[in-house]
Amino acid sequence: MTAHFRQDKPDTRNLLDTFGQGVIGKPMARPDGLAKVTGTVPYAAEYYFVDCLKGFLVTAPFTAGRVKAIDKTGALAMDGVVAVIDDPRMTVRPAQGTSGEAPEQGPAEVAYHGQPIAVVVAESFEQARHAARCLGINYEALDPAGLPLDPAAVPTEPGRGSMQAGDLAHAMKKATHSVDLAFTTEGHASAAMEPHAAIAEWDGKTLTVHASLQMPNYNIAELADALDLAEDDVRIVARYVGGGFGSKLGLSQETLAACLAAMETSRPVRVVMARRQVFETVIRRSETHQRLRLAADAESRLIGFGHEARVSNLPGESFAEPVLQSSAFLYGGENRLLQLEIARVHRMTAGSVRAPGEAVGIPTLEVAMDCLAETIRIDPVELRLRNIPEKDPGKGLPFTAHGLAECLTRGAAAFGWDSTLRSPRRRLDGEWSIGTGMASAARVHNVAEAKARVTLTPDGTALVQSDMTDIGTGTYAILAQIAGEMLGLAPEKVLVELGDTAFPRGPGSGGSWGAASIGSAVSVACEDIRRTLAECAGCDPDGLTLRDGLVDGPSPRSFAEILGREPLSVVGHYEPGAIADDYTASSFGAFFSEVRVNRHTGETRVSRMLGAFAFGRVLNARTARSQCIGGMTWSIGAALTEALLFDPVDGHLVNCDLAEYHVPVHRDVPDLDVLMLEERDPAASAIQAKGVGELAMCGGPGAIANAIYNACGARLLDFPMTPDRVLAAMPD
Ligand code: MOS
Repeated sequence: MTAHFRQDKPDTRNLLDTFGQGVIGKPMARPDGLAKVTGTVPYAAEYYFVDCLKGFLVTAPFTAGRVKAIDKTGALAMDGVVAVIDDPRMTVRPAQGTSGEAPEQGPAEVAYHGQPIAVVVAESFEQARHAARCLGINYEALDPAGLPLDPAAVPTEPGRGSMQAGDLAHAMKKATHSVDLAFTTEGHASAAMEPHAAIAEWDGKTLTVHASLQMPNYNIAELADALDLAEDDVRIVARYVGGGFGSKLGLSQETLAACLAAMETSRPVRVVMARRQVFETVIRRSETHQRLRLAADAESRLIGFGHEARVSNLPGESFAEPVLQSSAFLYGGENRLLQLEIARVHRMTAGSVRAPGEAVGIPTLEVAMDCLAETIRIDPVELRLRNIPEKDPGKGLPFTAHGLAECLTRGAAAFGWDSTLRSPRRRLDGEWSIGTGMASAARVHNVAEAKARVTLTPDGTALVQSDMTDIGTGTYAILAQIAGEMLGLAPEKVLVELGDTAFPRGPGSGGSWGAASIGSAVSVACEDIRRTLAECAGCDPDGLTLRDGLVDGPSPRSFAEILGREPLSVVGHYEPGAIADDYTASSFGAFFSEVRVNRHTGETRVSRMLGAFAFGRVLNARTARSQCIGGMTWSIGAALTEALLFDPVDGHLVNCDLAEYHVPVHRDVPDLDVLMLEERDPAASAIQAKGVGELAMCGGPGAIANAIYNACGARLLDFPMTPDRVLAAMPD
């Protein structure tokens, strides 16, 4: 049975607040937590298959050109080697956001250094890796000196998301106060802890793949298309995913390589990317060049708003880092210019990495706002409060729940924001300068179509099933809470099974839409089950009270007494409707940070950081807070250390491991304060929830940059703000 709900209107019933179980929103520990930290859940590469072969990818040792031939005879004669496969379906990554156009046959065109060109399959991993390194590759490399490698130095194409209204140049001229600033941000790696991995099994008709993927619901179509199979003959299993951060949204080459190898050898094949290969081949966040122009009148209200950005991608790729996504509505200003341009360069594919767009677009905007506040001599919190628009200034649409003002004021109070300390270099502690800074945060809210099956059994337990994933976010926990709340069951009585395309299609984990989308599907199923229970119990669904496995009434009855022996099973189908055209929906937040900057070395230490976030209903106070802490931690990385560095001569990525690509470690992160504002957003989803994970990294680097300026007077417009850059920007 299917229950379908298409959300065309806000849902103001706030159903989850009306039930008696009292588990929604509670800080419940994730049911998979203990098993994960004790190393007992299997990740993709850890399933055991008898006679499993191991594959190792071979990657292009040059920037661009083509592979003319691969001499397989030498490798095939080596110990344990079973196959060498250079099928172009594996070597070309399907473009993100399109499903499965099979690439042309023929010699592999190479567009970036590190692009997979073959897989060597052997009895052991070591044999495969050794043979891969010995493989004879005959190739024709283009001279890198003639290639477009520097995104700042090649012609651009217009990207999506551009808009113009009024006359920004004129507004800049007549403004009482204005700033016009140029920024850069370096590229980022998703840097998930679990490397990309897959094990494929082929029985001559059906393909079963254990893989590390965020979106099995979509990856199954990609895979079926690429291999010319029917979706019914493909099964993807991704029960546990050790982080994705965007890099596992689409299929990458290890999964295609494992599948092709299994189909060729008729044995299970496991392919795991080496850490270096993860860096060199999976998607990157584009570096950006940005210009911010802000024009304010005598009342400190924006009359002009300009945000231009240049990003890059490979030739032919459609994705462009959506830098301007939230700039479109965060602040007012009637004269507006938003312009995105794409440069085509030979670097690995650019795609979604941790809060694509806002992660690099909001920090720059927030530094520009800080500069404007300084020019005006107004408290930066007050400047932001004055410029929160009533409606989306570009589209003219109303907002759904809008928590920015409350985040700013409550965050400032909780942090102890002191607006009298705004001139730089006021506080010293030995060789350290201390300062504070703040920034707003915003992240667009999306929901996606989702299905989940909920089965209520007469013994007072329930089962939730979907091919939705939990990529470390807490999906297992929140779905047990939603079903538990609605069906009157303790969450321990709800078993959640995820990450298997044998189950109904979920929304996948991406763009922070997971919880709101799959949670809505579960709630649609549970509402339907409640209707049936009410019918059986002879009462109105609104009057039905379920608690601890009992149907309340003068004499409480068990589900078995009402249902008999048959379980009740419903597939909930949630579909976003016209509502998306009627509102602009976003999560909002505010960051406050204190830093210590060493005047001799330029080293920056974040000593305090508080984030206040409004993202609709908090489904689980513990996992939501954990998402906020994770996001804030990434914001410290984006602020101070993270940068993909490319060799200017031949364009290869230089820092290909976690020793050279610096994500924050414990020592870099102080105790983080998280303030989660209770909000109900009736237009956001059927459960009034929005996305949170990515919100908590959008804006944070701006707060840290502004704090560095306040501490030592170094105004940095280039991220990350490494010690050399801080020193160079420091006034004498
Ligand atoms: Mo996210 S960067 O859409 O996984």
